[in-house]
Amino acid sequence: MVDEPGQPPALTTLSLAEKAHEKQPVNQVVTPFDVSGGVDEHGKLLPVDYDKLVREFGATPITPTLLERFEKVTGHRPHRFMRRGIVFSHRDLTAILDRYEKGQPFYLYTGRGPSSDSMHVGHTVPFEFTKWLQDVFDVPLVIMMTDDEKYMHSAKVEVEDAKRYTKANVKDIIAVGFDMKKTFIFSDFDFIGGAFYENICRMAKRITINQVRGTFGFNDSNNIGEFHFCATQSATAFATSFPQIFGTDRKKVSSIPCLIPCAIDQDPYFRQCRDNAEKMKYKKPSLIHSVFLPALQGPGSKMSASVDVSAIFMSDAPSRIKNKINKYAFSGGQETAELHRELGGNSKVDVPFQYLTFFLEDDAELESIRKSYESGELMTGEMKQRCIAELQTYVQGFQERRAKVTDEIVAEFMRPRSLEWKGNPNPVVAETTKK
Ligand code: TRP
Repeated sequence: MVDEPGQPPALTTLSLAEKAHEKQPVNQVVTPFDVSGGVDEHGKLLPVDYDKLVREFGATPITPTLLERFEKVTGHRPHRFMRRGIVFSHRDLTAILDRYEKGQPFYLYTGRGPSSDSMHVGHTVPFEFTKWLQDVFDVPLVIMMTDDEKYMHSAKVEVEDAKRYTKANVKDIIAVGFDMKKTFIFSDFDFIGGAFYENICRMAKRITINQVRGTFGFNDSNNIGEFHFCATQSATAFATSFPQIFGTDRKKVSSIPCLIPCAIDQDPYFRQCRDNAEKMKYKKPSLIHSVFLPALQGPGSKMSASVDVSAIFMSDAPSRIKNKINKYAFSGGQETAELHRELGGNSKVDVPFQYLTFFLEDDAELESIRKSYESGELMTGEMKQRCIAELQTYVQGFQERRAKVTDEIVAEFMRPRSLEWKGNPNPVVAETTKK
């Protein structure tokens, strides 16, 4: 994702600020390397318009009907991210539900571009969701650490830095709670070779420079590593890249697809992957997309690993969390207590409320907080208090698990090996195969 240490999430924000000054409207841009909602005609930074994005990308919104099917097929109530539109669109999720229903194999694939020594709460969102999917489906999961991508894309990151970030971030990822028996985490620098590299080359041969320019907005100044990396991220979506997990029967393994939970900015990679998959005689990956957690500064800004006060970091102490929310969290409350009581707060732009939407499990409680805030009963300070408590609990639980992640545990997660999983315990057997 778009955040690098020591570099302001820079060019976009700077050039946007300039444009804002010139008062020229600017369209939103969302690629893996650039996320911004654009600028309106009054020079105001805009939040990302996700509905527009879904239309432009040609993805499919997640509807209540799809959620009902999810619940029916898996026997699990959809995750709060799904219920609340945080996980909001998909590609071919139904194909995965069909397979699960019949007990046919598939796997989960997600990843992270390691870019700092500690992840922030925004980074953990797709991983929290992935862990839940792993628990629900009971299938193998591969987590790709794109240290090569981060190296190639950033002037300041050396190979050694990227490797160090990988180690630290893998500990953070493990602390989310993944099941070691079902999870393989790898670093591109370490794992590329063998069957995986063969797939990278199969993919690379089918991608032209023109396509990459169009899909990612690259130009002649991008280095050739950036162009090539597109094939690397795609090749992880094919089960034949992992003979250790799925075996070496190419014909059988070629038919195993994956489901990729990711933030929407990663979609361009997988659009390209899906365009080529069938030509390579592989299954197209399915995708399930999440929105971004807003930065403390509110709509139109974004969390950055390099700007400490833009985000709550998973390494922040309880007092730091309290201080950041109280001092920096953008409020949808009114100027004075009197006005607030009279007019009520705006929960749509209120950052503490947005964070509660991500992290507070209880739907009824969330709804009652929203109502009393909007009616002016719940004050800004009280909203902040509630958010601080929730985030402190979340981060503390994380830190306790993180403290137990030893180098040996990391090494085991990252060792190429076979995994153990069961899939659907009660598959619906197709009529034709029933005796
Ligand atoms: N490119 C992603 C990033 O910079 C990392 C990544 C690789 C990824 N494969 C993925 C993210 C699959 C989500 C799903 O963070």
